[in-house]
Amino acid sequence: MKHSLLFTLLFGMILICQNTNGAERKLIRISTNQTDLILQVGENGRLYQSYFGEKLRHASDMEALSWDIHAASDGSVSQRGWEVYSGSGNEDFFEPAIAITHTDGNPSTWFYYVSSTQQPVPGGTQTDITLRDDQYPVEVTLHYVAYAEENVIKTWSEIRHEEKKPIRLSAYASAMLYFCRNSYYLTEFSSDWAKEAQMSSQRLQPGKKILDTKLGSRAAMHMHPFFMVGMNQPAQERQGEVLMGTLGWTGNFRFTFEVDNVGNLRVIPAINPYASVYSLQPNEVFTTPEFIFTLSTEGTGQGSRNLQAWARRYQLKDGMGDRMTLLNNWENTAFDFDQSLLAGLMKEAKDLGVDMFLLDDGWFGNKYPRNNDRAGLGDWEVNRTKLPEGIPALTQAAQEAGVKFGIWIEPEMVNPKSELYERHPDWAIHYPNRETYYYRNQLVLDLSNPEVQEYVYGVVDKLLTENPDIAYFKWDCNSPITNIYSPYLKERQGQLYIDHVRGVYNVMRRVKENHPATPMMLCSGGGARCDYEALKYFTEFWCSDNTDPVERLYIQWGFSHFFPAKAMCAHVTSWNKAASVKFRTDVASMCKLGFDIGLKDLSADELEYCREAVVNWKRLKPAILDGTQYRLVSPYEGNHMAVNYVDASQEKAVLFVYDIHPRYQEKLLPVKLQGLDPDKMYRVEEINLMPGTTSTLKAHGRIFSGDYLMKAGLDVFTFGQIQSRVVELTAQ
Ligand code: DGJ
Repeated sequence: MKHSLLFTLLFGMILICQNTNGAERKLIRISTNQTDLILQVGENGRLYQSYFGEKLRHASDMEALSWDIHAASDGSVSQRGWEVYSGSGNEDFFEPAIAITHTDGNPSTWFYYVSSTQQPVPGGTQTDITLRDDQYPVEVTLHYVAYAEENVIKTWSEIRHEEKKPIRLSAYASAMLYFCRNSYYLTEFSSDWAKEAQMSSQRLQPGKKILDTKLGSRAAMHMHPFFMVGMNQPAQERQGEVLMGTLGWTGNFRFTFEVDNVGNLRVIPAINPYASVYSLQPNEVFTTPEFIFTLSTEGTGQGSRNLQAWARRYQLKDGMGDRMTLLNNWENTAFDFDQSLLAGLMKEAKDLGVDMFLLDDGWFGNKYPRNNDRAGLGDWEVNRTKLPEGIPALTQAAQEAGVKFGIWIEPEMVNPKSELYERHPDWAIHYPNRETYYYRNQLVLDLSNPEVQEYVYGVVDKLLTENPDIAYFKWDCNSPITNIYSPYLKERQGQLYIDHVRGVYNVMRRVKENHPATPMMLCSGGGARCDYEALKYFTEFWCSDNTDPVERLYIQWGFSHFFPAKAMCAHVTSWNKAASVKFRTDVASMCKLGFDIGLKDLSADELEYCREAVVNWKRLKPAILDGTQYRLVSPYEGNHMAVNYVDASQEKAVLFVYDIHPRYQEKLLPVKLQGLDPDKMYRVEEINLMPGTTSTLKAHGRIFSGDYLMKAGLDVFTFGQIQSRVVELTAQ
C-alpha cells in the first residue's frame, strides 16, 4: 500500500466519525417534482441506493423504506446489490461501476462516504457526493442535477487519485441505478446508415444485456446512445412506469443492463471501455459523460415531453431560439455545381419562401478537387474552378436573392488524396505497421493531439471570421475511427478513443464560445451523431440520409422519444418519388422543415403547394418547435401514424396524420387529440391542400370543444395509400 500518511490519517478520522454516527446513517434525497432518488450511507459507511421511484409524499417515510430494502434474507449485514457506485473486487458479484488496478497491482476499490452538498442551480438542485477508498488515495465525486419541473436528472462522476504513479481504469461508469420490479422490458434504438432509430423491445432475462458501439467518432451508427426500460410491462405510450435514459458522449458508449440472482436490475451507463484501459495520472480528474434520464409513471409520451422540454431549456445550443427553413443542394446537385448554378438555387430558395440556402459538400480542394468523395477533405480552400470568386461571391448572391447562406464542412477528416495529408500524414489516426483500411475513402484526424485540435478549430474559425455572412454550418462526420492507432499518443493508446472525443469537444466548445450566434447542424452520414453532449454545441441534427417519407415516419417517431422536433432536421427530397410531394412535405413538416430537391423538377402545382406549406409551417412554429408533442398513433402498431402539437397557450394546435398502407376494409378509428384545453372551442381546418383541391375532412371548418376532440376524436384516417393530412386547430 503506497499512499501518503496524511491521507491515511485524515481518512481514518473520517471513518471513525462515520462509524460512531452510524445510527444516523446520512440520507441524501435527490428529487424532481415527480421522482425521488434516495441514497443512504450504510452501517458500514458505504453509500447505497435506498429508493428510486415516484416521489414520496412524506419525508419521514424515507428511512423506513431504506431499511426494508436492505434487509438481507439470511439476516446478514450484507447490502449487496444496491451500492451507488460499486467498485471492482468488493463483495458484490455483479457488474461494477468502476474498475481500477492500483499502482501495487491490487484490483479492488471500496468507496466510503465522505461528504455531500446540495445547492440550487438554474432549473433544479445539484447534489455532489464524495466517496473515498479506505486503503488507497482514490476518490470519486458523484454529481446529480435534478430538474424539478421537467422531471429529468443528469448525473456524472469525477474520479481522481493521489497514488504515486498512474492507476489503470478499466471501467468508469457515469452512474449506476437499481430497480426492484417483477420484470423489465428494454426498448433499444438500433441504427445503420439510412436506417436510424429503429425501435425494438425485449424482456430482460437474468444475466446481462449490453448496448454499445465501438465506432469512435460517430457514436450512434449501429446503435443510438439512448434506451427505455418498461417496468413490469413493455414501455407504453400513455401509461406505466418507464426509465428513459441517454448518454451525452460522441464516442463509444456502453449501457449494461444486468438482472441479478434475486431479479433486481442494475443499469450502468458508461463510456465503452473497449480498447480503453485509461492510465490516470495522479491528481488528473477523469470526468465521465453525463447520463440524462427521466422516470415517467405515465408512459413514454410523458417521458419524451420531459426530455424534449428539458433539452430546449437546458441543453441544445439556442434551445429556446428560432430555427431557419432552408434549401440544401446535396440531393439535387451532389458535387456538380458552379457559382451561377448556386446563385440560381438561391433565387429558387427565395421563391420557395425558405430562410436560407445551404451549400453542401464539394466546394473546396484545388490540387485535389472535391469532385467526388475520394479527394480533397482537409483542404478547406474554395475550389477555384467551380467558385472562382470564392465564398464572398456566394454570400453576396444570397444577399441579392434575399436568403441567408449556410455551408457544409467535415473538419475532423482527411482524404489521403489531399494536401493536408501530404503535409501531415501523422495527423491521421492509422496503424504504423498494417495495411490501412478506409471508410468512405477517408481517415479521421487525431484529435487527441492538441496541435490537430488547433488546426481543426482554425479551419472553422477562419471560415467564419473571413466570411461573417456565413449564417449556418452543417458539420458532417462521415467515418468511424478506423485503424485505431494514434501516432501522437504513442504507448498511451488506451486513451485514444476517450481523448479523441474530448479533443472534438474542445474544438466544438471553442467554436461555440467564439461564434455563439451561428446555428449549426450536427450531421454524421445521416443521423449517426445525435447525443446530448454534442448538442450543447449544435442547434439541430440531421436525422437520416433516408428521406423516403415512409421510412422517415419510423425514423422521426423513434428519435422523437428523446429529442424535440426543433432539433430534428427533416428535408423534402426526391427519395421515393412514388410518394406525392404533399406527403413528403407533410412528413418533413412535423420536424424542422427543409428542402433538398430540384425545384425545377416540380410541377407548378407542386411548387405552389410547397410555398404554401412553408408559410403554414412558419405560422405553426410556436406549436411544432416550441410547443408540446403528443404521439397519438404509432406506425409500429398499424398502417397509420398521427402526432399532434399544442402551443404553450393552448390556443393553437396542429395534427399530422399519415395513412401508410391501410388494409382492405380495415377498421379506421377516430384519432383522439391530446394536450388541448377541454373547455376551449377549436376551429378545425385542414391545411396543406394541393392547389385546386378541397378538404374531404368531415370536420373541416367546424368547431368542437377540446374535450370532444380529446375524447371522441376526429375521423382523419383514410384507406388511401401513402396519404397525409395536416389539420390546424385554432381556439375561438
Ligand atoms: C452525408 C450527409 O448525411 C449528407 O447529407 C451529405 O452532406 C453528404 N454527407 C455529403 O458528403
